[in-house]
Amino acid sequence: MSIAFDQGVFTLTTKNTMYQFMTDRYHVLIHLWYGKNTHCDMSYLVDYPDVAFSPSVFDAGRDRTYSLDTRLQEYPVQGTGDLRIVGGKVKTPDGCSSLDLRFEGFSAEKGRAPIEGLPYARAEAECETLIIHLRDSVLDLNAKLYYVVFEELDIIARHIRFENSSDQTLILEQAASAVLDLPNEDMDLISFSGRHAQERQLIRRSLEQGTVSLDSKRGTSSHQQNPAFILAGKDTTETCGSCYGMMLAYSGSFQALVEKDPLGQIRAVMGIHPDLFEWVLEPGQSFETPEVFLSFSSRGFEQLSHNYHGLINTCIVPARFQNTPRDVVINNWEATYFDFDGDKIAAIAGEAAALGIDMLVLDDGWFGSRNNDSQALGDWFVNEEKLGGSLQQLIERIHAKGMKFGLWIEPEMISEESRLYQEHPEWALSIPARGCIRCRYQLNLDLSNPDVQEYLFERMDALLSENEIDYIKWDMNRPIAQWYSPCWPADRQKEVPHRYMLGLYALLNRITQAHPGVLFEGCSGGGGRFDAGMLFYHPQIWTSDNTDAHDRTRIQYGTSFFYPVSAMSAHVSAVPNHQTGRVTSLSTRGAVAMAGSFGYELDLSKLSGEEKREIREQVGWYKQLRPLIFQGDYYRLTGADENRSFWMFVSKDKRKAFVEGVVYEHKPTALRHRIRLKGLDPDAWYRCIGASFESPAVHQILSGEALMSGGCLLDYSWGYDKAMALVFEKVE
Ligand code: GLA
Repeated sequence: MSIAFDQGVFTLTTKNTMYQFMTDRYHVLIHLWYGKNTHCDMSYLVDYPDVAFSPSVFDAGRDRTYSLDTRLQEYPVQGTGDLRIVGGKVKTPDGCSSLDLRFEGFSAEKGRAPIEGLPYARAEAECETLIIHLRDSVLDLNAKLYYVVFEELDIIARHIRFENSSDQTLILEQAASAVLDLPNEDMDLISFSGRHAQERQLIRRSLEQGTVSLDSKRGTSSHQQNPAFILAGKDTTETCGSCYGMMLAYSGSFQALVEKDPLGQIRAVMGIHPDLFEWVLEPGQSFETPEVFLSFSSRGFEQLSHNYHGLINTCIVPARFQNTPRDVVINNWEATYFDFDGDKIAAIAGEAAALGIDMLVLDDGWFGSRNNDSQALGDWFVNEEKLGGSLQQLIERIHAKGMKFGLWIEPEMISEESRLYQEHPEWALSIPARGCIRCRYQLNLDLSNPDVQEYLFERMDALLSENEIDYIKWDMNRPIAQWYSPCWPADRQKEVPHRYMLGLYALLNRITQAHPGVLFEGCSGGGGRFDAGMLFYHPQIWTSDNTDAHDRTRIQYGTSFFYPVSAMSAHVSAVPNHQTGRVTSLSTRGAVAMAGSFGYELDLSKLSGEEKREIREQVGWYKQLRPLIFQGDYYRLTGADENRSFWMFVSKDKRKAFVEGVVYEHKPTALRHRIRLKGLDPDAWYRCIGASFESPAVHQILSGEALMSGGCLLDYSWGYDKAMALVFEKVE
């Protein structure tokens, strides 16, 4: 049993953690503990100070020590005298904002129920659900707090549902998915922040008194802040110390606030961004939030990452794509941009097939009159003139070369220069009487409109039914800057941002169910919508438009804290790199892209015979190793700021390991770089069965302990831009 209730105390246990809270004398849910399993009732730690200027709830009478402003709680709301950041706010018809949720009862069940219309952690791993029933008796509003406990994964999934049982209209002004209160401790906050082509750069900052906001108001989870963060002890490292993760399964505007209060206590609130949210709850109506995944590790970031990788691989991505090695693709975008025809694409496929590549992905420019980025989005009809025949005919030419076929599409967009815009200008999100705010010359379609959803389903369904397409790259290339939909009345306009997300998820659900064999890759100007919400439908996402291998090591490093490599699409592109101008060796580019769903994105016909030979070899290595890459455990061997970047994969049975990395800089008159491996069986013996360089470790049989504690010496030869790979096998 992972859920227990004893004398007012609820205890949730997972393999390595314990989460505890209680209901107190005023029926408020007081948070007690999240951390290692102490096997104890932790309520002895609750402190009752009289803190000046902290208000007390009405029921406490003249007891100055009972203030919710100073207590750790499960779901603090606005209206109880807790003047810190809160999770929930409700407005009544008289204009008052006040909410007070007290414990009413609970229920527990095996498994879990889906969250209607939203992504969630599927019950693919064993789980149990605790539902806490809360009630505001003045408003006649009920709330249910859900805790889904995934014992083996060390994950607790939380969300809340509000139900209006009154006879008046209530307005939900804020509905955070979860709040996590932690006792007073010095902690660091780690975010994964950035911008286009520089996504998920790890930033570690000290938490001081005050509030930090990690958020997106862009209608996507965004390049700028990822909806996942870590709270870590000051001395927590990759393998030591405590840390907490919070990850939101939502792909739209979100807010994560972290406050260190004047007493040094820490509160984290995460959910839909309240600035772009409101929900009208008519009598009898309810609202359910997206889900937040909590995890705790007492063994540093590595364990925390493994917990989240396990969650995504087991419970988030569709079951049919779980841990399945992916095809090697060639994408024509950086090879041709808009300048191609059917013959050029068939020629690229021919070159790629000869190198062992499995699939050609035809990127932007195959539809309507699209020949540059200002036209035709929305006109999802094949440009047969450009392709020199029908799409199916082109696919057959590609199939004849032994390759599969994938197609790019950007369903959520509309160009002003398009047939669709002429027919339906009202389908573009814009504010009446104001000019539209353009970005990359394009506008956003109003996905809160069921007619728009229907049009997009019909178009995509037709493309997928009429053509043999194995893979779709679903792009989304601009933020949303204007929120108004003629489909909704004035008092529901603040619902439109979330209704857009519900429309998007409904469309994704419908199209992926109608075509279960098709692998959908997500994309948003690269990694602008890289989140657990999208991974529920798209098992992989184009990690960044930045294909420069050096920049990619940092981007993939940051991404790996919450997301498994199977989710990261990564390609080898041409040099000088189109985004940074940097020249890196083909081996560096190959090594970096292999830590993901691997592919190429360059004009193969421009490569030398030697380069083609190297690519054939890379593809061969990748195909041999991809079961290990997709099914093994991923370890970071170096940090983000070193002059080298190494990582490795170890099979679950620890029989096989693949170490890879790049040395950016080698100082003269220095010892060789040494890399300590991880995740091996310390008592087993390992033999190197494949190496791209010379090292004593390549020729000797060494114990797992030696390789992990002593490590491997890397290549002697000095230089910059050296990729290295080693494959080890356990000696039986
Ligand atoms: C975005 C994507 C690219 C490519 C272009 C096409 O920028 O991230 O990979 O598909 O759009 O317009």
